Amino acid sequence: MSDVENKSAVLEAFRDGMRHVASTVYAVTTFHDGKPFGILATAVSSLSFDPPSLLICINQSASLHEPLASVETFCVNVMGLTNRDVADNFMATKTAEDRFAVGEWENSHGVPVLTNAQSSFVCRIAHRHEYGTHTIFIGELIDAHHREDAAPLTYYNRHYIDISKAPDR
Ligand SMILES: Cc1cc2nc3c(=O)[nH]c(=O)nc-3n(C[C@H](O)[C@H](O)[C@H](O)COP(=O)(O)O)c2cc1C
Repeated sequence: MSDVENKSAVLEAFRDGMRHVASTVYAVTTFHDGKPFGILATAVSSLSFDPPSLLICINQSASLHEPLASVETFCVNVMGLTNRDVADNFMATKTAEDRFAVGEWENSHGVPVLTNAQSSFVCRIAHRHEYGTHTIFIGELIDAHHREDAAPLTYYNRHYIDISKAPDR
């Protein structure tokens, strides 16, 4: 197998492998020039408790990327099952106005926060690191809210699944 063939086989196996990693879905949002911006993301991770921080990986081609290059804050909205309509609308729309037309959003600390999300984490950008196609943004927590009664919206093999119904093993 040539190097090129091997590289594309590895990339395909990487995509297949990652598609089968079940991930919580997040709506990452910010305000820029008076307009809300946001995309759905799964590449989000808790990073440190001191300082309390998390990281998000955003494709440099995403509409949210340029705003995040210049703003100071963003919000990670952890999507619950009841936020499925918001997730579907994010994927179905392009403009800022249309993307935030579904769901109840409030401006908190200068960023759009989904009021009935499972959790919301408002962060101040502490660090940006470009790597390959993406930029890693490290955010230090300014504010956080959590709803105990919510079940997570989970993405697995290109579908949303309800893991709250999965039996304990
Ligand atoms: C379930 C799911 C997870 C995604 N995760 C990420 C992610 O972690 N980072 C990212 O940059 N884009 C991610 N995307 C793609 C973005 O949501 C979005 O579709 C893409 O950036 C194009 O958006 P735009 O039209 O606003 O540029 C994900 C999409 C879906 C459906």
